[in-house]
Amino acid sequence: MPRSHSRFNNVFNIRVVLESSLYMNIRENINHLNELFKRNKIKAKVINVVRGVTFTRYEAEIDPFSFQMEKVSALEDNISHLLRSAELPIIFPIYERSIIAIDVVNSTREDLSLKTVLTNTRGIRSCKLPLVLGYTVYNEPFVVDLVDAPHILVAGTTGSGKSMGLRSIVAGLLHFTEDVEVFLIDPKCVEMSVFKDHERVDVITDIDEAHATLRFIQMWIDNRYATFAEQGINNISEAEGMPYIVLVIDELADLFAHHKDMRNDLLKIIQKSRAAGVHVIAATQRPSVDIVSGIIKSNFPTRIAFKVSSYEDSRTILSSKGAERLQGKGDMLYRKSIGSFERIQGSLATNEDIIATFG
Ligand SMILES: Nc1ncnc2c1ncn2[C@@H]1O[C@H](COP(=O)(O)OP(=O)(O)OP(=O)(O)O)[C@@H](O)[C@H]1O
Ligand SMILES: [Mg+2]
Repeated sequence: MPRSHSRFNNVFNIRVVLESSLYMNIRENINHLNELFKRNKIKAKVINVVRGVTFTRYEAEIDPFSFQMEKVSALEDNISHLLRSAELPIIFPIYERSIIAIDVVNSTREDLSLKTVLTNTRGIRSCKLPLVLGYTVYNEPFVVDLVDAPHILVAGTTGSGKSMGLRSIVAGLLHFTEDVEVFLIDPKCVEMSVFKDHERVDVITDIDEAHATLRFIQMWIDNRYATFAEQGINNISEAEGMPYIVLVIDELADLFAHHKDMRNDLLKIIQKSRAAGVHVIAATQRPSVDIVSGIIKSNFPTRIAFKVSSYEDSRTILSSKGAERLQGKGDMLYRKSIGSFERIQGSLATNEDIIATFG
């Protein structure tokens, strides 16, 4: 970008946007937004623009403790109109940086491959169980330690990218950690079969077998506590040669529909799992209260939402609106804490890509 171009030079953090029509368009949008703020007496100013895979983020500096955030959110119709976007933006605060993110969908998108994400992932040595969720809008891999999570609930409508997301996450986890064994419950029988030859993975497609697996993990946890007692230790981090266990369930509703005690068996695992080194990641199409009951919610503190079909579903999974406006194909919101989110693009994990990570 030539220096003379504009005073916006230093506010751009754009790797992709060099094409001049796009650049002009973004500049125009910044002006529109700033004028809109001024007209509505909102103390906010666009200070940065980032173009991600599926959307462009306008970051406006704002006082997070005034009521300015709500005022910006209330202008969503005006914003999509002014920015000539066919869809409403997703608007949410990023408190750590005192900014508000205004995400406007791009007219085109590109797939992000598992290989790209994993080869660019660094600095995960401090994580015991690194989950590489995908890219942030800044094209940086986003990693969470499942040990801290310690259980994750994933929701999204059909075709939103839950199974693909789980495939990517599991592939990354196995790739970066030796010290883990994975149980994959996949009643749909297709999505996870690529893992069945991996020596540290059990793929379970039969529901009765899934039930037996839950019971088996419960026993395993009890045995671990017995061992801890014998050795005079309190949890897995003090134990030697004990792998972490990750239970992944691709469709909680299928499980709960089958056996009435399946829900209790899962809760039993979760309630005593953490010290024993057992963690659960469960996905569902139906974040309705019959599946995601209060007790399930309180036992899965970490939440990921892919595109959901309604505002109510977004509320159920994130306690916030927004997920109903995601774009599908791995576009997700990760809830960092109540009211605080990271928007992430998940990767497309082909079978070849996954097998290549087994090494
Ligand atoms: N990260 C991604 N990048 C590109 N395309 C994706 C991504 N994730 C999913 N898709 C596309 O969307 C399709 C559906 O994804 P997926 O099977 O993961 O949905 P799902 O949420 O598991 O749906 P269901 O609830 O019906 O099982 C995939 O087959 C793929 O074509
Ligand atoms: Mg699926």
